[in-house]
Amino acid sequence: MSSSNPPWVSAWKKHLDGKEKDPQYNVYALSTLSTEGLPKVRHVIHRDLTPSNIFVITTDMRMQKSSHLSHNPAMEIAWWLDPAGVQFRISGKAFPLPNQSTPEGSTRVEDALRQLRTQGEDSDPSWWEKERKRVWKEGMSGHLRASFARPPPGKPLDEVPEPDTWPTRLDAESDDPDEKKQIEVALKNFALVAIQVDAFEYLELAETPNRRTQWTRQDDGSWEERKVAP
Ligand SMILES: Cc1cc2nc3c(=O)[nH]c(=O)nc-3n(C[C@H](O)[C@H](O)[C@H](O)COP(=O)(O)O)c2cc1C
Repeated sequence: MSSSNPPWVSAWKKHLDGKEKDPQYNVYALSTLSTEGLPKVRHVIHRDLTPSNIFVITTDMRMQKSSHLSHNPAMEIAWWLDPAGVQFRISGKAFPLPNQSTPEGSTRVEDALRQLRTQGEDSDPSWWEKERKRVWKEGMSGHLRASFARPPPGKPLDEVPEPDTWPTRLDAESDDPDEKKQIEVALKNFALVAIQVDAFEYLELAETPNRRTQWTRQDDGSWEERKVAP
């Protein structure tokens, strides 16, 4: 990363470097607004921080968070690192980035990239498709991959096939025609979500006295720092 990184990146790296796959560090709560404007929150797994300092998670395009964010990209994250006694609170905008093999998917990714403040290789739609395939292959268990080929999340159980007929695991790739078909279906639903940070709060509860630092992005792209009482 370049020396022009936002100031919050070093606080984030100080605690996350080398621990990005550790379940005590890589889960956070993501809140979105429903189409009725109501707050909705759920836990997700951190996947990556891109060269332009965009956070990445994965999701299923059929889930509610995808429709919430398509309607209103505003979101907030509360990220508690228990072993470190640290909370990050991050607000900004998030954009689902689906499969780009359809005109609709590729338009969505292009629209999102126009709104994201990317500067490097992650400004290119092909970087995101490569990243989506990388996470599919390297970051997901067979069980998790199969969830993208199961019935739509949230659908009443009496409207979907019996659970004992659902796929239980999927390889990342396959030569078996049936599994290949299921992988195709799953990859249509499997999406990344790109999260742009507009404000970052760093709360240090392991320090005495506790410390709370806030960074807010300014219109000119600089970051204003405020240290406040915890
Ligand atoms: C520890 C944990 C990690 C999770 N990780 C993810 C994730 O990375 N992406 C995701 O879409 N859902 C994840 N989930 C499931 C969500 O919390 C939620 O149940 C699901 O995404 C449906 O939410 P929605 O209908 O609001 O979109 C996770 C749940 C838990 C408990």
